Amino acid sequence: MLQGKLVYLRGLERDDLKLMHQMQNDEEVMEWARFRPDNTISMDALEKEYDEELKGNSPTKRTFAVVHRKTGKVAGWCSIRWWRPFATSVDVGLALVKEFRGKGMGTEVTRLLTELAFDQYNMHKVELFTRADNKAMIRSAEKSGYKFEGKSRETLYFNGRFHDGVQMGVLREEFEKAR
Ligand SMILES: CC(C)(COP(=O)(O)OP(=O)(O)OC[C@H]1O[C@@H](n2cnc3c(N)ncnc32)[C@H](O)[C@@H]1OP(=O)(O)O)[C@@H](O)C(=O)NCCC(=O)NCCS
Repeated sequence: MLQGKLVYLRGLERDDLKLMHQMQNDEEVMEWARFRPDNTISMDALEKEYDEELKGNSPTKRTFAVVHRKTGKVAGWCSIRWWRPFATSVDVGLALVKEFRGKGMGTEVTRLLTELAFDQYNMHKVELFTRADNKAMIRSAEKSGYKFEGKSRETLYFNGRFHDGVQMGVLREEFEKAR
């Protein structure tokens, strides 16, 4: 388990897919967190997507349930992914249920994932990609030392228009200064 003050992260269980299913069919969450144009996914598709990971077999991804300490409720999920074997950088992502946002939890989850990447996986760099107008995600990342690396113009399309994305990244020494 990855221990924070407000939350802890534990390995994803099959039962967590229920909340994930709810969130991944919620238009508001998905417009921020994912970019599927129709914001829908079936339980079957979700089970297929996470099957390898739930069996402990995924070579490229770890997903965690974010548990709110005070209530014991699962507040969302987060993940860390590497794109190829022998990668020296990883990508992180997270999404919280609305009632748990704006309370510092996203900042803490970003820090815990970044710590995991540097202190346990010995990565050189941690990256994340988000919508350019996702102020909460950008600020959460900045507080762990992430810096802007570039804007991807009109790279996302939904609701009848294109949206910009931003790439952010943090190096070990930048994280050390921030934590
Ligand atoms: C993005 C997300 C993970 C951030 O987590 P959070 O718990 O809401 O954020 P925090 O409470 O830790 O706040 C982080 C910072 O952002 C600021 N912030 C929070 N919500 C904000 C908002 N709606 N607008 C502007 N700033 C905001 C906070 O004030 C804080 O900065 P500060 O400490 O300088 O005051 C969360 O809001 C979320 O799950 N959103 C929906 C899914 C999503 O966008 N996922 C990321 C996809 S890449």
